[in-house]
Amino acid sequence: MSENTASDENDVFAAAGNTEKELPEIVRELDESGAYVRHRLSSADAEKDYRNRRIKSFVVREGRLTAGQEHALTEYWKAYGIDYQNRPLDITGVFGRTAPLVLEIGFGMGKSLVEMAVRDSGRDFIGIEVHTPGVGACIMAAHEAGISNLRVIHYDAVDVIGNMIPDGAVDRLQLYFPDPWHKARHNKRRLVKPDFLDLIIPKLSPNGIIHMATDWEPYAQQMLEVQSADPRIENLSPDGTYAERPDYRPLTKFEARGQRLGHGVWDLLFRKKQCS
Ligand SMILES: C[S@@+](CC[C@H](N)C(=O)[O-])C[C@H]1O[C@@H](n2cnc3c(N)ncnc32)[C@H](O)[C@@H]1O
Repeated sequence: MSENTASDENDVFAAAGNTEKELPEIVRELDESGAYVRHRLSSADAEKDYRNRRIKSFVVREGRLTAGQEHALTEYWKAYGIDYQNRPLDITGVFGRTAPLVLEIGFGMGKSLVEMAVRDSGRDFIGIEVHTPGVGACIMAAHEAGISNLRVIHYDAVDVIGNMIPDGAVDRLQLYFPDPWHKARHNKRRLVKPDFLDLIIPKLSPNGIIHMATDWEPYAQQMLEVQSADPRIENLSPDGTYAERPDYRPLTKFEARGQRLGHGVWDLLFRKKQCS
């Protein structure tokens, strides 16, 4: 998004106490009953993580939790949270029904995700986010809305999709306003690359949709190029470029601000081909 400026990126690194090479991992703490207690950063894990891991699409920002977010994480995690696990998730078991599944990566504070779940009770929604205050805000909003078709996972989406999401399970994958990583030396952190498509395409159901949106034009071009080059998916835009924003995607906070400032927004809709 355009408000994540190059200097913001530096600030994010500094605020997290990180150099580019020292990205800490999130560690969740659960109480004896398995309820969510809090998250913290582990330097030992961070070191192990750095030795073993790929480049991340995020840095952990340990913003302060509001009382409401903290309360939501403690009280409503059991209802809305799914703990990270290293094996496929029983999605029917989680929701107690079989319904089309929408998977959203990086829901931020979750406002638009909750709005979509409220409006579309016939689908189930799973949101993945690493930012703790965002996870708290999202489950607080889900509780207030009284919905039962939304769950959140507080973990790196790359691990979640690779290890927890069964093949063919996702009817729509949503990636809205992913961190644009403006600086050339940070571009490698962008999620949308050919190996990201290798991760997500097998998870799509036949005719499953990938819906991305960004307000950073160079990233929109990268999204278009990477997806257009993949023979397993086809562009739903009639002219083979960008799509109109579908009605089901509410304006996000970032986007509404961008619109006021006259920034552009690019939506991309691709569909998995039958044979892939
Ligand atoms: C720029 S924000 C956009 C948030 C939201 N989609 C919106 O439009 O308001 C990108 C979000 O993606 C999250 N994120 C980035 N990489 C992630 C990953 N690998 N797994 C989960 N969340 C991620 C960040 O924490 C951040 O909240």
